[in-house]
Amino acid sequence: MNKVGEFYTPGKIIFGPGGLSQVGIEAKRLGNKVLVVLGRSAMRKSGALDRLTRLLKENNLEYIIYENIPSDPTVETVDTGTSLARKESCNLVIALGGGSVLDTGKAISAMVTNEGSVADYQEIEGKGKKFQHKTLPFVAIPTTSGTGSEATKNAVITNTKFSLKKSIRDPWLIPKVALVDPELTLSLPPYMTAVCGGDALTQCIESYLGKKSQEITDILALHAIGSIGKSLVKAVKEGKNLEARKDMAMAALLSGLCLSNSGLGAAHALSHPLGVYYKIPHGLSCAVLLPYVMEFNLPVVTKKLAKIARSLGEDLSLLSETEAAQRAVEKIKEILSAVGIKENLSEWGIKEKDFSQLIKGAKGGSLNNNPRNTSDEDLIELLYKMTGLY
Ligand SMILES: [Fe+2]
Repeated sequence: MNKVGEFYTPGKIIFGPGGLSQVGIEAKRLGNKVLVVLGRSAMRKSGALDRLTRLLKENNLEYIIYENIPSDPTVETVDTGTSLARKESCNLVIALGGGSVLDTGKAISAMVTNEGSVADYQEIEGKGKKFQHKTLPFVAIPTTSGTGSEATKNAVITNTKFSLKKSIRDPWLIPKVALVDPELTLSLPPYMTAVCGGDALTQCIESYLGKKSQEITDILALHAIGSIGKSLVKAVKEGKNLEARKDMAMAALLSGLCLSNSGLGAAHALSHPLGVYYKIPHGLSCAVLLPYVMEFNLPVVTKKLAKIARSLGEDLSLLSETEAAQRAVEKIKEILSAVGIKENLSEWGIKEKDFSQLIKGAKGGSLNNNPRNTSDEDLIELLYKMTGLY
């Protein structure tokens, strides 16, 4: 089918071990008073925050730190940070952390120049105000390899009033600079590495299989899937292996480019309400759902699944296309199991009586992009499998 694709990217991507050293020069180009957005304490402990602030000072930049961003940032998290940035007259936002920290920084960079609360701009039931003004420049420095937020035009924010996790989305939200330094991920603990990698893997596969998939992101997704197949287990088991960390950092970056331009699917759609109601880490629910969603989609994306199997290095020479597609599902299960991700979330106590709420919360853009249309019954089936309630 001939499609017209659109592809947005960050203004500049800096990638490579030691890349953090460039933050001062980049920041100087973009502003003079920085809001530094930070998570709980990992970057203070690792020394990365000290390096960052030293580089800012060396370049004569002033800064103020907004920290303790929770793992599921809320409307209040963003609105409080926005007030701080306005009060301090910040003209640049730099976020150093995982996906939640990057999403918070990104949302603040948009809200400083736009009126109201970030809640007004969330995609809740198809509503959401449009941003009227260009955002402050935003520099994203990921310290996990997972969400790909450093390359996306959306930020996921929890709205406690509506019990929903929804995006704000606009091309203006794409970071001015994505600064990806794989050395920053060397201290990420094994379980976090596995869960974040599971997120990146799900993002690549869902955007590749999705209805909005396009040639550029297809190429990136297959490359990234291959890298994750090669290096996720290594990154989890040998945390200091820089080559494996580099592969994962690149794969996460590519996964962001893929999802931002070609959308996601049913695994992400269901993961958001599971995060809201049960506080299940996003990457974990995505990874657990991934093989079930692939199996469900198999009849309509058989050829593409076979290509995934090939990019994962499987020998498909004696297999039919359907067998090759099944092989992709099996291989993904193998990788996830090797990094300690279980095949269901039975330990999380998900209750059948909540299924209708979960399904309601799953409706939206990601679900619409799933290659095979999903009825409520299909979603119930997926929930039974992934919760282990069968
Ligand atoms: Fe994700």
